[in-house]
Amino acid sequence: MSAPNKGYDPVQVTALHPAEVARAQTEALQAIAATADLADLKEVRLAHDGDRSPLALANREIGALPPQAKAEAGKRVVEARGAIRAALAAREADLTAQRDARVLVEEAVDVSLPYDRSPAGARHPLTTISERICDVFVALGYAVADGPEVEAEWFNFDALNFLPDHPARTTQDTFWVESAESGVVLRTHTSPVQARTMLTQEPPIYVICPGRTYRTDELDATHTPVFNQVEGLVVDEGITMAHLKGTLDHFATAMFGTGIVTRLRPHYFPFTEPSAEVDLRCFVCRGDSVDNPDRPCRTCGSQGWIEWGGCGMVHPHVLIACGIDPERYTGFAFGMGIERTLMFSGGVQDMRDMIEGDVRFTRAFGMEV
Ligand code: PHE
Repeated sequence: MSAPNKGYDPVQVTALHPAEVARAQTEALQAIAATADLADLKEVRLAHDGDRSPLALANREIGALPPQAKAEAGKRVVEARGAIRAALAAREADLTAQRDARVLVEEAVDVSLPYDRSPAGARHPLTTISERICDVFVALGYAVADGPEVEAEWFNFDALNFLPDHPARTTQDTFWVESAESGVVLRTHTSPVQARTMLTQEPPIYVICPGRTYRTDELDATHTPVFNQVEGLVVDEGITMAHLKGTLDHFATAMFGTGIVTRLRPHYFPFTEPSAEVDLRCFVCRGDSVDNPDRPCRTCGSQGWIEWGGCGMVHPHVLIACGIDPERYTGFAFGMGIERTLMFSGGVQDMRDMIEGDVRFTRAFGMEV
């Protein structure tokens, strides 16, 4: 075994030179300080504290040094590596804290944000109220009937006993298809379904018919040129106006609640005789505002009643035009605006809201599918 080489000077081993060790340490500390994230830090750790880092390689040289030089060089390298490891640990703690804070922000859930699922569609309140009306009558044994919206003038007017010069036929009230001579109109009411039903069915007839109708009205808060009506028709033996009144009261109560009944006011329609307008007990004041200046009601103008629709006993001319024997059968009919009914039952002030298609209006009625 050879004697230790007393002349071996660690300073001459370039890697162990104090300046070299200091340079490796400075470079490592700078690289550590410059890391942006934990992935960077991993690379820097490998480069400056890994098996092939400058100080690890320098460390290997120590074994060959004489004992005294070994201690001195060893201390220098250990101190430098210690400083680098401490810096790595501190930087790791920093970057981990930064990452955790960022994750908390990025993955935070703001429960106050509106949800981003697209809402499922739902039916329009005019559709759902039409179906509710039909349900009321189906429960009484009625069938649901329908007819075309583009209608023959004969069904819309002639069969219903409108004389040829009746003002309702004019272009001021009626949309004619092509020309006023075409004999084809957009139906102005659902009453032509009465004639269609009587021509195709034998009595007893009990039908309810909701549907779209058209008149040349300007669009405003209480009128729309396209609107919906619901028509009721009963033809049977022994039908009287008392049946009509009882049916309307039942309808009103089913739609607006207990105690909301109807009142009939004499009126004229060509296709019914006698005819009446149907008023509804004011569903807000229930009549309490009448002659009661202390409790005025804006809904009915303190009248206690609100106009709802028309009705009457089917005119014998109409029965005859539709092939039904008026000596044997009698019948009643009624017709109401569905928009108006929805205004009452849904507290809608402006009819235009029903046709503008704004979901904020329809959503208030619920998302019934
Ligand atoms: N069709 C009439 C209207 O549109 C209403 C009505 C229907 C009147 C049935 C009497 C009988 O005004």
